[in-house]
Amino acid sequence: MLNWDEPASEHIDYVDRSNASPDSEIAGAKMNPYSLAADDAVSPAAQIDTASVEAEHGATGLEAVEMGASRIHVDDKKIINCRADLNQLVPFKYKWAWQKYLNGCANHWMPNEINMSADISLWKNPAGLTDDERLIFKRSLGFFASAESLIANNLVLAIYRHLTNPECRQYLLRQAFEEAVHTHCFQYIVESLGLDEKEIFNMYREIPSVHDKAAWALPYTQSLGDPNFHTGTPEADQRLLRDLIAFYVIFEGIFFYGGFVQFLSFGRRNKMTGTAEQVQYILRDESMHLNFGIDVINQIKIENSHLWDDKFKEEARDMIREATELEIRYAHDTMPRGVLGLNAGMFNEYLHFIANRRCAQIGLAELWPGAENPFPWMSEMADLNKEKNFFETRVTEYQTGGTLSWD
Ligand SMILES: [Fe+2]
Ligand SMILES: [Fe+2]
Repeated sequence: MLNWDEPASEHIDYVDRSNASPDSEIAGAKMNPYSLAADDAVSPAAQIDTASVEAEHGATGLEAVEMGASRIHVDDKKIINCRADLNQLVPFKYKWAWQKYLNGCANHWMPNEINMSADISLWKNPAGLTDDERLIFKRSLGFFASAESLIANNLVLAIYRHLTNPECRQYLLRQAFEEAVHTHCFQYIVESLGLDEKEIFNMYREIPSVHDKAAWALPYTQSLGDPNFHTGTPEADQRLLRDLIAFYVIFEGIFFYGGFVQFLSFGRRNKMTGTAEQVQYILRDESMHLNFGIDVINQIKIENSHLWDDKFKEEARDMIREATELEIRYAHDTMPRGVLGLNAGMFNEYLHFIANRRCAQIGLAELWPGAENPFPWMSEMADLNKEKNFFETRVTEYQTGGTLSWD
């Protein structure tokens, strides 16, 4: 099982080095996750020649099948700008992507499996929650309700086309389904509690701090969703990297974490425990999405070192800094006063800590050195390798097996 927040140093197995001799440059690259030597493994057949390749051939997997073409070798595969047939899953090159697909499938869950009756009675009890608790709960619902759909649209309409690797696409398809489950989850909570769905689902248009996070991310996906956009030039490939950083590292890796802390703080106080349990499952999924995105970004860097220049690195740090400040504003807006043992000052420190980790995970210098984690329980929340979960309501380490009936 992958940890929710793997240390950057564990992200070392980016390429299949099974054929590399121990003393080869490629084997040596394993010692350094950001080493560039792995690109040596790419065969001439897989080298991108010009920016026109995708325009001419599509690189979509929808090209004509060539009868009698030579078989695909693992070294023909590339994470972007690949010319090898994308309809063939094997041989695997990026085993981490396949493993994440398998782990995602093993973690399958559905929102309506979770009992919401305690949440319903607490929410409907006028004395059950304070006004501040209701505010924080609804704001976070409003953010996630639209954010999950935004992530799904980015995956399907922007990212999928440009990651030219079948095992990564296999994971993207699994992730896309999980995002649909998450959107379903927030709809299910809204419906269960009898909330005004128009109020919640329109929050990202009507509440400035919710709107600002979605509005910050939107241009990155719009840029890639343009049908005339193709990778294959340094400028275009950097646009793809920007979108991956914006959505995986920032949106799923920073913007989600304020809401996770807030929802899970209810559960720690034995309030809204059904919702907190749902969010715990989402956190487990999202931590894998984040780790997949980090692996993809680092693999693109390994294969395309020219993209990761000093100017781009500073731009990436600026993106993370700006987004972290937006998330801090969101925390202040949703918590005008201390609530659930939380206050906005603690979020400043937590978000600086998280932003530092995200920088380290993709090989950037930390933005706020020395920031510490005021919520150490968050890592336990995401670690579901236990017989029972935190709330002890049900077994969380399970695999769903559908039962077929032929009657
Ligand atoms: Fe999600
Ligand atoms: Fe996600």
